[in-house]
Amino acid sequence: MDAPMNNTVQAVHDYWNTHTLGFQYVTDSSIEPDSPEFFAHIRPWMNPYKFPWIMERIEREAELLQGKHLLEIGCGMGYDSLEFLKRGVQVTATDLTPNAVKMTIRHFEIEGVEAEAVHTANALALPYDDNTFDAVWANGVLHATGDTERAISEARRVLKPGGRAIISHFYRKPSWMYVLNRLGRENIEYKEEDPPVNEFYTEKEILDMFNGYEVIEAVQDHYRALPVRRDGLKAGLYKYGFRPVYNLVPEPAAKQLAYKYSITAVKV
Ligand SMILES: C[S@@+](CC[C@H](N)C(=O)[O-])C[C@H]1O[C@@H](n2cnc3c(N)ncnc32)[C@H](O)[C@@H]1O
Repeated sequence: MDAPMNNTVQAVHDYWNTHTLGFQYVTDSSIEPDSPEFFAHIRPWMNPYKFPWIMERIEREAELLQGKHLLEIGCGMGYDSLEFLKRGVQVTATDLTPNAVKMTIRHFEIEGVEAEAVHTANALALPYDDNTFDAVWANGVLHATGDTERAISEARRVLKPGGRAIISHFYRKPSWMYVLNRLGRENIEYKEEDPPVNEFYTEKEILDMFNGYEVIEAVQDHYRALPVRRDGLKAGLYKYGFRPVYNLVPEPAAKQLAYKYSITAVKV
């Protein structure tokens, strides 16, 4: 089903297949990785729960998508897709890596929800016909593929005319995560090693990639610094220096430094 991978995609695959997002939040190694306790243990650290605005976005989109078909690209352990499934959306959950797909299948089984499909798929060569889905959701994924523009164009291809793409990217200057990562040389995903690709984009760069879409919402989000389960000097500076100060900054000002840029766009 999947197209052959070039070197970058292979490297991205090899990283994420051994670093599925979520394992870095485990603090109790006695918990079995495919048990109900495991998914509950890391849940507070996963997208819709740690970022309330993502849950609000899921609720907003799910209302428009009752009984309709959503494709999630880069589902990780399936937390975002799960929330769509609970709200009556027909979901196809995909990821580049077999291990993420395995975890998502187990997660849905434990939660008692049924997706239309859960399988591997490469965002750069999606295995679907044109005009298949009513919506595409990709949260923190396309900037990690090595060819964001192509991935956005692939999402458009598989959307029906009028279908909605909801896509979040890492945001460049002056986002605090960009400064921490590029100047502070602190890894974002796993303390020991980051993925081979993690692009940060300016607003203009992001908007320019949405060819053939009408952008209906563009917001800078992730404007709070969350707790981290990390130790060491930099983690200490973050926990006891940056984080409490930044989180006191009033929301409108804090948003100016937020590190995600989230687009909702309609295929025209
Ligand atoms: C930062 S994680 C985000 C996972 C999930 N969206 C979440 O927020 O929990 C990035 C995910 O993108 C996936 N990914 C990277 N390149 C991809 C590609 N070319 N096609 C599909 N998924 C890809 C990775 O396997 C990984 O699961």
